[in-house]
Amino acid sequence: MIDEPRNSPVPAMTDPSVLMLTSSPEAIKAARDFARGWLDGKGFQRTAVEIALLIVSELVTNAYKHGSEPGQAISVRLYLSEAGPVVEVRDGSDAEPHVKPLTLDTFSGRGLAIVSELARAWGFRHLASGGKTVYAVMREKTP
Ligand SMILES: Nc1ncnc2c1ncn2[C@@H]1O[C@H](COP(=O)(O)OP(=O)(O)O)[C@@H](O)[C@H]1O
Ligand SMILES: [Mg+2]
Repeated sequence: MIDEPRNSPVPAMTDPSVLMLTSSPEAIKAARDFARGWLDGKGFQRTAVEIALLIVSELVTNAYKHGSEPGQAISVRLYLSEAGPVVEVRDGSDAEPHVKPLTLDTFSGRGLAIVSELARAWGFRHLASGGKTVYAVMREKTP
């Protein structure tokens, strides 16, 4: 189990909506469906929702690919903050996410570069229980 840190990395204005998952490829779609329901329920602009879902997909894919072994716990939290809607994705690995330099000769390694362009802010925090949470502040509407 991944337990709660006392504070969220971005101060929350609402209780989080939480989805507990086990690491698998199916978890990525489950997280997207969960996030779509939450974002639509808040009435955010349609394009902003699609962009937010891209961010959620990248973070959950990373938790699956880099932050866990199959069957281990991953969780998704969604809440509102003063800075905007926040997604947190927790996994049990202490390894840290980092933006890779953009290159033209590889097929992967662009996820967090894309997140850093699309999100208002992103970052990570180690959890007291081990593992970490990777978070992004999303946008409610497109400019
Ligand atoms: N949840 C995570 N746990 C551990 N390492 C991570 C996590 N997310 C990202 N990383 C590290 O950051 C790198 C960059 O992530 P990303 O830009 O999404 O590229 P990719 O997933 O294609 O490798 C990854 O290759 C990995 O080393
Ligand atoms: Mg990735």
